[in-house]
Amino acid sequence: MPSTQATPSTQATRNTSATPRTEATPKTSATPRTSATSRATTWPAERRITIHDLQAATDRGERWSMLTSYDTLTAAVFERAGVRALLVGDTSAEMVLGYPDTLPVTMDQLIPMVQAVVRGTGTALVVADLPFGSYQAGPGAALANAVRHLKEGGAQAVKLEGGRRVVPAVRAIVGAGIPVMGHLGLTPQSVNVLGGLRRVQGRGDAGVELLADAQALERAGAFAVVLESVPAELGRRVSAALRIPTVGIGAGPHCDAQIMVWQDMAGLTTGRLPRFVKRYADLHAVLLDAARQYTQEVASQRYPDADHSYA
Ligand code: KIV
Repeated sequence: MPSTQATPSTQATRNTSATPRTEATPKTSATPRTSATSRATTWPAERRITIHDLQAATDRGERWSMLTSYDTLTAAVFERAGVRALLVGDTSAEMVLGYPDTLPVTMDQLIPMVQAVVRGTGTALVVADLPFGSYQAGPGAALANAVRHLKEGGAQAVKLEGGRRVVPAVRAIVGAGIPVMGHLGLTPQSVNVLGGLRRVQGRGDAGVELLADAQALERAGAFAVVLESVPAELGRRVSAALRIPTVGIGAGPHCDAQIMVWQDMAGLTTGRLPRFVKRYADLHAVLLDAARQYTQEVASQRYPDADHSYA
């Protein structure tokens, strides 16, 4: 089933409109900073952003943005716009390859997209997703695939889903010198256990478990944690409890950073979108209009005209 045009992303509720941004306030829990962190006072223009730059921004209370990215041209645009880190996500299964969920995408399919995003950028930190099946078998498989993302893809970091159960994998990857981003709350690779992709996670007692998972990931060496589709209050509690940045997607206004699927952000996806999606453009309408004009001009022989032909 090709085409992303009618395929909304499947992550669940985010409410950007009803949540005024708070003043930038540094994390109160900021503990001793590394020397690399203290040195970084602003975003680099001549080299890639590192996990230390992201931590330093969080420490000084600056909110930063991530987007998903799967190709060279959009990656370059997003970097130019000031997006600090790009995720080559397994949402490419839906957004690029046309699958109904994230499960089918493989390492071999993701790696060329990672390469493309790396080629299109010079400063953004590129995070590559570990797809379903690439790390669940244990720390050995997780490390081998993380290494592929850096060695073959050129990424600077990897992301995987899960809390305490993936701590051995996180330790193995971090131990090899590869930065790891965690992912909690709605974890789309577990769609068949969760029973759907639009359910808010972490309500009630589950919030306590999620906080414990987040702390376990931080202790294991993760440099950031994505919080997907959780109540804003839980997003606040987890963000306050961790020193490392939280990256929210449907997790309210208190996270240290935000991430969106770019096709949602730019309005290329249509249909019923999760509550947290704010469309900053209507790319679907713009492309539709352009393609319609083109086909009409070809049919009426107005294109190509003399201006667009060689003498
Ligand atoms: O794969 C992805 O795009 C993601 C983000 C939505 C967080 O995991």
